[in-house]
Amino acid sequence: MPSTVVVGGFFGDEGKGKIIAYLALNDKPSIAVRGGVGPNAGHTFTIDGRAYKVRMLPSAVAYKGCRLMIGAGVLIDPDVLLNEIREFDAFNRVVIDPQVGIIEQRHKEMDKVGEHSKVIGTTGSGSGPANSDRASRILRLAKDIDALRSLIGDVPALVNDALDRGANVLIEGTQGTFLSLYHGTYPFVTSKDVTASAICSDVGIGPKRVDDVLVVFKAYVTRVGSGILEGELDREEAKKRGWLEVATVTGRERRAAPFNMKLAKRAVMLNSATQIAVTKLDVLFPECKHVRVYEQLSSDARRFIEQIEDELRVDVTLIGTGEEVYDMIDRRSDRD
Ligand code: IMP
Ligand code: MG
Repeated sequence: MPSTVVVGGFFGDEGKGKIIAYLALNDKPSIAVRGGVGPNAGHTFTIDGRAYKVRMLPSAVAYKGCRLMIGAGVLIDPDVLLNEIREFDAFNRVVIDPQVGIIEQRHKEMDKVGEHSKVIGTTGSGSGPANSDRASRILRLAKDIDALRSLIGDVPALVNDALDRGANVLIEGTQGTFLSLYHGTYPFVTSKDVTASAICSDVGIGPKRVDDVLVVFKAYVTRVGSGILEGELDREEAKKRGWLEVATVTGRERRAAPFNMKLAKRAVMLNSATQIAVTKLDVLFPECKHVRVYEQLSSDARRFIEQIEDELRVDVTLIGTGEEVYDMIDRRSDRD
């Protein structure tokens, strides 16, 4: 902090939701603002045994003291957004940019029945077709929708004013670096760039306003949908290792592979990472479950983290060791 942008380093589902919820509860930002694609994202965080899921609101909704914003680059599905606002009772703290793009029913239908969407294995959320319409300049925007009127505000002005005052701002990315339309495994990618620069652009802040870029990696790699996954395990092996996950938005099983240092290095470069978070370390090293102090990790687990730091030349500042938001090792104060 004061301004931290959080992005995924692999193919999404690295555990950004949990990392962001932790940062929000711990650092108490004034504003959390979401960039990224739209409701194709699914973020989960668990507090006191209860799992919360969001697709549209920032995961910082976990902390009741911050304003929650959605940047112009994002697409919203009004029904999904309004339901989440109701669920979290967040009406008086949500602000959406007037130029947020609107996903309509026809976009979802096109995304579900379109042959090419099936080849790519999209989430069917309508995001790709809506971004096509945006590129054609025929997409409707939030300012055109009556039901959203009371939520609209000038997100870039609010965020930049907060930064001018020295307030903490958390900038949330979605998806992962290798799902980027530009830098990912094209054509098996999402419908826009999702690296840190793009997330800042989505929200309306320039590159000089970012203090920290936190890239989140899971301790192994997962991917939903099509496209290459180096070192992919067969389903049985993934299940045996406890790596067989189910996707938040689509309910599909995720494909799994071991941690990929080559991809991680490239993600550090593409995002100019200043810090790294590693999630689900307890899945690789069960003896580390719920550990919250670095020195209490097993030597194997510490070796895994040290190898990442040696190869990537960036500090691993946050380490997830369980589902709960507070199952976290926070080493940020060690760097000061
Ligand atoms: P789309 O973003 O729905 O068009 O899907 C394009 C590709 O990105 C598919 O392989 C999806 O599974 C993947 N994808 C999109 N959003 C996410 C996400 O939040 N997590 C993981 N994969 C995603
Ligand atoms: Mg997800």
